[in-house]
Amino acid sequence: MSDPEILLVGLVCVDIINVCQQFPEEDTDTRVLHQEWKRGGNAANNATVLSLLGMSCEFLGTIANSHEKRFLLEDFSKYNIAINNCVFYENHQTPLSIVMINSQNGSRTILHSEKKLPSIKLEDFEKIDLDKNNYKWIHFEARRGQTNAVAIQQMLEKIANHNQQTDARKRIRTSVELEKAVPEFSILFNLTDYIFVSKDYSKYQGFNSMEEAVIGFQQKCCPGSAIICTWGAEGAMCRDGNGTTHKSPAIPPEKLVDTLGAGDTFTAAAIYSLVMGRGLEEAVDFGCRLAGLKCGIIGFDELKNFTQ
Ligand code: FRU
Repeated sequence: MSDPEILLVGLVCVDIINVCQQFPEEDTDTRVLHQEWKRGGNAANNATVLSLLGMSCEFLGTIANSHEKRFLLEDFSKYNIAINNCVFYENHQTPLSIVMINSQNGSRTILHSEKKLPSIKLEDFEKIDLDKNNYKWIHFEARRGQTNAVAIQQMLEKIANHNQQTDARKRIRTSVELEKAVPEFSILFNLTDYIFVSKDYSKYQGFNSMEEAVIGFQQKCCPGSAIICTWGAEGAMCRDGNGTTHKSPAIPPEKLVDTLGAGDTFTAAAIYSLVMGRGLEEAVDFGCRLAGLKCGIIGFDELKNFTQ
């Protein structure tokens, strides 16, 4: 495995996937079409897609020393994702999602428990020597309340210090994903180069369209940084540091098969394009294209080498 160029910080969990003939009725005992365990979590999914696209990447998160650990570690290894700096917790349980995929329309319904496993802290991140590593990009998945938001803020500040002391070629670009409606996330806007915001988060902040969201959020961002807003079936929109906006339509497949991780695919595809030196508009177009492709296949594997 070559030196990781992209570091993804956030959640890994076990997804117990149930592909159902139709969405189950309450208080019934239903047979499913297919059932399997998968490695999930937004940052872990980002890493999977980036690795399938040919990027060398690393996942940074916490992993419980419970019996699911072996499954997670084997799966990271299968996808060539480094986990050298992950933090292991004794006497903790693995975060778990029960996922129901409706085979008629590809919808995914998730029941998730974080099982009180702490997330990455500043002191964990500080053990990584940013000078010795080859990271070109560090992405953060913001997940929980105050503690998680403050930890990400501190890690971003650490990267900003590193960038100030290093020459331009070794500068690390950063991005943050704000998906869940969590008020404390607003402290993260002015610390990162790229912000990914979801429709849920935007609506929670009072924006009724992606156009409104990219304009509204930009005022909170630091000068020169970009905002990328996804809006489900309507596609996505970006606004660069100069105020130029661009909208990409969603490109749904002929049949929606599995939408689990479509948003994570979008984020990974956009980061991939930007790391490859493509422009922001192209990155968002590619994000929509790859997320659309993902909705037409089961899991991520067929995205392998789909780099255009
Ligand atoms: C998909 C996903 C799943 C996980 C859930 C956690 O975006 O990361 O893999 O179960 O979200 O919220």
